[in-house]
Amino acid sequence: MGKTCRVSTLCVLCVILALVSIATIVTLWTLALTDHGDVTAPWDSYRLSMDVIPEYYNITIWPRLSPDPNNGLYIFTGQSTVHFECVKETNLILIHSSQLSYTRQDNEHMANGAAALIIESTWLQPETQYLVINLKSKLRQGQKYQLYTEFTGELADDLSGFYRSEYEEDGLQKIVATSQMHPTYARKTFPCFDEPALKAIFHITLIHPPGTVALSNGMERDIANITIDGVSWTKTKFEPTKKMSTYLLAITVSDYTYINTTQKDPQIRIWARRKAIDLGQGNYALNVTGPILDFFQSYYNIAYPLTKSDQIALPDFYYGAMENWGLVTYRETNLLYDPKTSSSRNKEKTATIIAHELAHMWFGNLVTLRWWNEVWLNEGFASYVAYLGADHAEPTWNVRDLIVLDKIHKVFAVDALTSSHPLSSNEDSIVLPNQISEQFDVISYSKVQKLQHLTNFGLFSFFLQTYLNHFGYSNTVGNDLWHHLQMAVKDNNGSLPHSVDRIMSPWVLQMGFPVVTINTAIGKVSQKHFLLDADSNVTVKSPYKYAELQLLKCKYALTHCGMMVFGYWPTLILIQITSNKLFIPMYSFCRAQLLSTSLALRTTSYLSKETEYMPWQSALNNLDYYYLMLDRTDVYQPMQDYIRKQVTPLFLYFKNMTLDWSSVPVQHTDHFFKRMYFKILTQQCVNCNLFRIHPNLRSVVYCSAIAAGDEAEWEFGWLQFKIASVANEANKLMFALACTNNTELLNRYLSYTLNSTIIRKQDATSVITSVASNRAGQKLAWDFVRNHWEYMFTEYGVGSFSFASMITGVTARFSTPAELQEVYTH
Ligand SMILES: *[C@@H]1O[C@H](CO)[C@@H](O)[C@H](O)[C@H]1NC(C)=O
Ligand SMILES: *[C@@H]1O[C@H](CO)[C@@H](O)[C@H](O)[C@H]1NC(C)=O
Ligand SMILES: *[C@@H]1O[C@H](CO)[C@@H](O)[C@H](O)[C@H]1NC(C)=O
Ligand SMILES: *[C@@H]1O[C@H](CO)[C@@H](O)[C@H](O)[C@H]1NC(C)=O
Ligand SMILES: *[C@@H]1O[C@H](CO)[C@@H](O)[C@H](O)[C@H]1NC(C)=O
Ligand SMILES: *[C@@H]1O[C@H](CO)[C@@H](O)[C@H](O)[C@H]1NC(C)=O
Ligand SMILES: *[C@@H]1O[C@H](CO)[C@@H](O)[C@H](O)[C@H]1NC(C)=O
Ligand SMILES: *[C@@H]1O[C@H](CO)[C@@H](O)[C@H](O)[C@H]1NC(C)=O
Ligand SMILES: *[C@@H]1O[C@H](CO)[C@@H](O)[C@H](O)[C@H]1NC(C)=O
Ligand SMILES: [Zn+2]
Repeated sequence: MGKTCRVSTLCVLCVILALVSIATIVTLWTLALTDHGDVTAPWDSYRLSMDVIPEYYNITIWPRLSPDPNNGLYIFTGQSTVHFECVKETNLILIHSSQLSYTRQDNEHMANGAAALIIESTWLQPETQYLVINLKSKLRQGQKYQLYTEFTGELADDLSGFYRSEYEEDGLQKIVATSQMHPTYARKTFPCFDEPALKAIFHITLIHPPGTVALSNGMERDIANITIDGVSWTKTKFEPTKKMSTYLLAITVSDYTYINTTQKDPQIRIWARRKAIDLGQGNYALNVTGPILDFFQSYYNIAYPLTKSDQIALPDFYYGAMENWGLVTYRETNLLYDPKTSSSRNKEKTATIIAHELAHMWFGNLVTLRWWNEVWLNEGFASYVAYLGADHAEPTWNVRDLIVLDKIHKVFAVDALTSSHPLSSNEDSIVLPNQISEQFDVISYSKVQKLQHLTNFGLFSFFLQTYLNHFGYSNTVGNDLWHHLQMAVKDNNGSLPHSVDRIMSPWVLQMGFPVVTINTAIGKVSQKHFLLDADSNVTVKSPYKYAELQLLKCKYALTHCGMMVFGYWPTLILIQITSNKLFIPMYSFCRAQLLSTSLALRTTSYLSKETEYMPWQSALNNLDYYYLMLDRTDVYQPMQDYIRKQVTPLFLYFKNMTLDWSSVPVQHTDHFFKRMYFKILTQQCVNCNLFRIHPNLRSVVYCSAIAAGDEAEWEFGWLQFKIASVANEANKLMFALACTNNTELLNRYLSYTLNSTIIRKQDATSVITSVASNRAGQKLAWDFVRNHWEYMFTEYGVGSFSFASMITGVTARFSTPAELQEVYTH
């Protein structure tokens, strides 16, 4: 690159850049790259060297919401000044930058009477995602500098960084420019020190078309109309953020509108498409946000740190939601709720997801993990306290009960595979952006819930308060947490059999969990690594010594001991097997060949008398495994008949209770109950009266109708899907379309996922997984995935969360070695 950049006496360092065509830039960078092939060079390391520490950024970004007439691309341009301190003498600045282009021009206007720092050379390092600035002289320790850049990026529909989302309203195509910075996409929006520990303050300005609304983490502070090249634009300046990590930034430009609450401090707003707001679909979110924020303020005993809380529903969004500080982004289905058409399951999801994201405003945002090897520090706690927040907002739902089912069972299943991983891994082992994305799995989200069993509820809350106060606006590692928990125990005159560190470390550093066998006849206790597939080869061996002493001591007081000291689920499960009807995990044991299948299935004989939600849902979760394995064998029909027989008394019970399915039971969990029950009785419901059907049952009914019908019914369903204005309703139809047994239709449906104007990218993996979950579609889906592997990997592999869940979904029925082999070939 050229070297014309002059810098002024106050140590203003500049890289002035201007627009050039993409092709030129690629060539330039490629040329520059070949000069720097040295493997040991600093720019080959994925981690920043920490020679310079950012203090604040001043960023202006200008998205164009219509395509460039020359090349059809949507772009954004921007300028950024980052103010940083040099903490270790260096002549090399590495700042993250990905898919942004820069070019230099003369920079006469930069002179501020400041001393010039001469730039020797600058280049991009695409592999490690850096903009490298090599200076002629060294930056001095303790001195502060500024780096100014101008850049251009594509506002692509790729769901990462600053990206484009589209929807139709009143026949008009509308564009939303929105962002997903987490975990490593801020660098795709502006050059930044993109690691969670490098917290800074962000002054953000957005330039956008008049009539549109711009949002960011801070409140809009200054909105002005300006003219650029004779065209008017609006310029919105936001109040500076708190000191925070780059991955928590958010910016959006849209034609959205909002509703707000009268609660004064902080101002709470729900943003969505105009039509969705007009139809009242944001009301439920608005109703629960205030109470949930209130709950967390008192639970953490720390006021909400910001002046406003915005939540926005986006038509295209990769994850379920993202906890950007002050501007939380959601998939439409997770934030919007329509009382007329959405089910109570949708409502529960909305409440718990909002609670999860708001819990992060403190846990994760105020206090942040130091590095991505300890994702559980952010996610585990948020997942746990989310249930407390949701419980506060909806006290009649018994949401806390659901923790066991939603989280524990899931983690139990995943952690029992050899492919699991320890909660915490070595910091050096997680460096690549892909490895970072992979950390966001069910293990990190759910396994941490053991922690709260360690102590009583009040102590746990006390501990959180001191921890959050102590580490506010900075970063932590797991050891900080143990240390504070230990202090909380001490301050409360509590006692634990061992240090917190000693109790928790095995659990955090080892993957999986032990199965504990207690032989009550001879008083012998033993434990070993629990694996669903008893024949699998474990590569990472763990000793599985979990506080053996306590185990023995507590042999006769299992209930308390299991909850308080161990809390890992096998112990709890064993207790529950003997003490009440939560027999379910037996199935897991059975899969692992610790019990025979017939013994495990025999316990279902009890189901015919059961009317409670928990045992049933647990049983069905586990029976699902048998369905998946057996549904292509001769055993399928007898098994189906058997389960149906067990379920019939329950069916009649609910039929009576709901006055022939037309009214809603009072107890919240009953809604779910009915829903899951219908999963099994799908075919019986073909005869249900479609028009009287309550929203909770719709997905089942739609599925049955499409399964029983043929092309005409499918086309009708497809049309309804395309015109549905409620995201939850569209979602139900989307799943139902996969219920047909017509392979031609299924193939057509699969092929739609390759065109994002037909099926949104965010939904493609769900469609494929639903087709795979249909007996008639499993093979089609797998063949489809194999034939389009390249495409899928590049399109859906962004964050491997949904890609991985698709592979799991598509291969869930695989039970023969030949099928297994097919998985490994990719
Ligand atoms: C940010 O930059 C603009 C000009 O680009 C300037 O007017 C403003 O004062 C700067 N703000 C801060 C906080 O540095
Ligand atoms: C900016 O222009 C829009 C219309 O183009 C107008 O509605 C708005 O009031 C103007 N805002 C200011 C601050 O002048
Ligand atoms: C809600 O927003 C309106 C402007 O749209 C504002 O006048 C009102 O003060 C807001 N209410 C609260 C309580 O913040
Ligand atoms: C929101 O709260 C209001 C007032 O309590 C209530 O009338 C309304 O039904 C609630 N809306 C939803 C969708 O729950
Ligand atoms: C802990 O014990 C000390 C001394 O026995 C007592 O002064 C203190 O109040 C106790 N603290 C709590 C929280 O019970
Ligand atoms: C485990 O390793 C043994 C010996 O290397 C091999 O024979 C066996 O097939 C492996 N099992 C699995 C499930 O891969
Ligand atoms: C049906 O429900 C009514 C009350 O709604 C109850 O009195 C009756 O016992 C129920 N019948 C059966 C068979 O459960
Ligand atoms: C699809 O299902 C219907 C109704 O269950 C059945 O009549 C039909 O034979 C099935 N078609 C195929 C191709 O399996
Ligand atoms: C995607 O679908 C749209 C609408 O059916 C069509 O116009 C477009 O040509 C398709 N794109 C591709 C690449 O097939
Ligand atoms: Zn989270």
